[in-house]
Amino acid sequence: MSKHTNITAFLTQHLQGEHSVALNAILADVLSACKKIAVAIDKGALAGNMGSLASENVQGEVQKALDVITNDIFIEACQQSGYIAGMASEELVDVVEIAQDKCKNGQYLLSFDPLDGSSNVNVNISVGTIFSILKSANKKPELADFLQSGTEQICAGYALYGTSTMFVLTAGNGVNGFTLDADSNEFLLTHPNMQIAKETQEFAINMSNYRFWREPVQRYIDECLQGEEGDRKKDFNMRWVASMVAEVHRILVRGGVFMYPTDSNSRSGKLRLMYEANPMSFIVEQAGGASTTGTQRILEVQPTGIHQRVPVMMGCKSEVDRIVAYHQTKPKRK
Ligand code: AHG
Ligand code: MN
Ligand code: MN
Repeated sequence: MSKHTNITAFLTQHLQGEHSVALNAILADVLSACKKIAVAIDKGALAGNMGSLASENVQGEVQKALDVITNDIFIEACQQSGYIAGMASEELVDVVEIAQDKCKNGQYLLSFDPLDGSSNVNVNISVGTIFSILKSANKKPELADFLQSGTEQICAGYALYGTSTMFVLTAGNGVNGFTLDADSNEFLLTHPNMQIAKETQEFAINMSNYRFWREPVQRYIDECLQGEEGDRKKDFNMRWVASMVAEVHRILVRGGVFMYPTDSNSRSGKLRLMYEANPMSFIVEQAGGASTTGTQRILEVQPTGIHQRVPVMMGCKSEVDRIVAYHQTKPKRK
């Protein structure tokens, strides 16, 4: 028998309070979806699904075949518990209404990015799935019911399809990570109580956007690049996977800071609040880290739309605090 606890047994013990019964049932569906997505991704070019489609999603991004396939898998699998009354996906313009006979048990909302980092699929680099669970005030939820700040999340997590398939989640009581055991097809607890290191010398940012950043972000990165000779008096290392799930996972395991500030297309950033920034911020804070837009805690941003974008800076708390402080001080002359 494995020395690792399986996720079903773990969740039965770990989830406490008024949402525990619902969360156990909802997460069983999410886990089933992620296992199916892992299989679809693992087939790779053999299934002929590595290319792009003629279609674009709501954000005007060209959809990959796997964006659509994983979206369909997630929606189908997550209607089984009877607790989900509505869903919002990166790949769909409008919220998904669930038929009344499929949500007899409750009124929870599921927002998700079925395939994060999808530009990486055909080059065989890690991708993921991100999800966030909210309570709905209405049994027949409408768009307005989804527009709750991240502090209202009752559970959030991600699956990482990397060198191993992992599932990491928080229900507001710490962060725990599980690895998919191919023999039993079960997620087993391998990373209990994940904590972000208090100090780091590693940052992740797409440097090609440097000219679009605001001065506080340029200053922070300039100082990292100056290393021992600069104000920080230490050398930094840089990583950029272009999959937020992989970057956040690396930060949970070995520390660091992840930043996607303003970019060329949008002065408000690239990442989406409801199904990327909020769930990852919940996880990062629960692991002792911090997450900001530069001027506001991400979890306190009041959403105005399900596909709204925000600047994101998250990870090691002391680095995020420094970035926030730079946003509060007058620009430093270069
Ligand atoms: P998605 O594939 O869901 O659209 O998300 C990709 C996101 C995020 O995962 C990653 O951090 C970022 O886009 C990468 O952006 P660049 O291509 O600008 O590096
Ligand atoms: Mn994404
Ligand atoms: Mn995506």
